[in-house]
Amino acid sequence: MTCPVAPASRAACVALDADDPLRALRDRFVLADGLIYLDGNSLGPMPRAAGAAFTRMIEEEWARDLVKSWNSAGWFDMPSRLGDRLGALIGAAPGQTIVCDTTSINLYKAIHAAIGLRPGRDVVVAEAGSFPTDLYIVEGAMASAGRPMRRRLVGQDGPIESLLDEKVAVVVLSHVDYRSGRLSDVADITRKVHAAGALVVWDLCHSAGVIEFPFDAEDIDFAVGCTYKYLNGGPGSPAFISVARRLLAQARNPLSGWWGHAAPFAFDRDFRPDSGIRRFLCGTQPILSMRGVEAALDALGGIDVAALRRKSLGLTDLFMARVGALLPDLEIVTPREASLRGSQVAIAFNKGFPVVQAMIERGAVGDFRAPDIMRFGFAPAYLRFGDVWDAAEILADCVRAEVWRDPLYSQRHAVT
Ligand SMILES: Cc1ncc(COP(=O)(O)O)c(C=O)c1O
Repeated sequence: MTCPVAPASRAACVALDADDPLRALRDRFVLADGLIYLDGNSLGPMPRAAGAAFTRMIEEEWARDLVKSWNSAGWFDMPSRLGDRLGALIGAAPGQTIVCDTTSINLYKAIHAAIGLRPGRDVVVAEAGSFPTDLYIVEGAMASAGRPMRRRLVGQDGPIESLLDEKVAVVVLSHVDYRSGRLSDVADITRKVHAAGALVVWDLCHSAGVIEFPFDAEDIDFAVGCTYKYLNGGPGSPAFISVARRLLAQARNPLSGWWGHAAPFAFDRDFRPDSGIRRFLCGTQPILSMRGVEAALDALGGIDVAALRRKSLGLTDLFMARVGALLPDLEIVTPREASLRGSQVAIAFNKGFPVVQAMIERGAVGDFRAPDIMRFGFAPAYLRFGDVWDAAEILADCVRAEVWRDPLYSQRHAVT
C-alpha cells in the first residue's frame, strides 16, 4: 500500500484500514480490545499461535517424548532451520543465518571474528550514540582480541568518512538508531567501509521484520539482531547472527562451544569448527523460546517485507503529520524523509516520561528513553491507521492537560 498523503480525518483512516491488504495480519496476534500498542519496537505482542505451540511443545515434546525430541521434534536443527527463514527477511540466502543466544553475545562473536579476519589492523569504529550494549561489547571484544586495539566513535571523533582508513578492522553500526529512529544508508556506508578494506557488522534490532535489509545484495559481512521486537518472538527470545558465506570458512567464533563443532556428537578432544554457519553456535539453545520465534515467523509467513515497510511509512507519516498539526511546538526528532526513517517516531520533550505514563493509562502504550525521548513504534503487522490517529489525539490530550502536574505520573520512575 502506498500512502503518499496522510489521511486527513479519522474516517479516512478507517477507510484506509478497510482497504489495507495487510489487515488480516492483526488477527495473528493477541491484542486486547482498545489497546493501541506502540511499543512493538521494545517487545512485540504474542503471536496467537504461540500459546498452542508452547503447550504442544511442553506436553508432547518435553513431558511425553523427553530426550528423543532432540531428533524427533527437530530441536537440534532449530537454530539453522529458523535461521534460514529469518535470513529470508533480511535478504540473506540460506546457510548464512542462525538463530541463537542474544544480540549482545552475537555481537561479540561477530566483532571478534571480524577483528580476526583483519590481522594487520587495530581500530574498531562504533557509534557514540548506539545502544549501550553495542559499545560495551566492542570494548569486550577489543580487550580479548589478543592484540592492542583502539576505538573510534562516529559522532564523537567525527563523521564516519573521516574515521575510515587502512587501520580500521571493523565498523559496528545500527541500521535504525534506537533513540531517534534514524535509518542508515546501508549501501552507501557499507561501500565506504569496504573501500577502506574493513568489515562491517550491522545491528538490525530495530529493523528486522519491518524494513528490508540487503544482506546479499550489498555484500554485508555480518549482521545481528533480536527477535523480540518487530519479529514478535517473545520476551528474551533468541537472537540471530548472519555471516556472509564468503567469510564463513575463515571466520572464527571466539565462543567455540560444542554446538559449533563439526561433529558435536563425536566428543573430540579438540575443537574443529563446523564448515557452515553452525560454527557460530556455542552451546545448548533455549528450545522453548525457539518455539516462540517459530510461531512468530509463521505469523509473518507469506508476507513481503516491502509491503510491511510501505505500510510502516504510511503509519509514521500519519503520526508525524497529526502530531505536527495538534502540537506544533513539540520537537519530532525522527527524520521526515522516508529514506532516513525507521519504523518509530521519537519526540523530544522534557516532560516526556509523565506524558508516556498518562498515555499508557489512556490505552496508548509507548515508551520513554532518558533524558527526554518519547518513543512510539509503528508495527505494520497489527497497527491500523485509525489507531495512529487516536494515539496522536491521546498524546495531544495529555500534553494539553499538562499531566506532569499530576503526582500520579510525575513521581513514577522509568524501569524499562
Ligand atoms: C540496537 C540494540 N542492540 C542490542 C540490544 C540488546 O540486545 P540483548 O537482547 O542482547 O539485550 C538492543 C535492545 O533493545 C538494541 O536496541
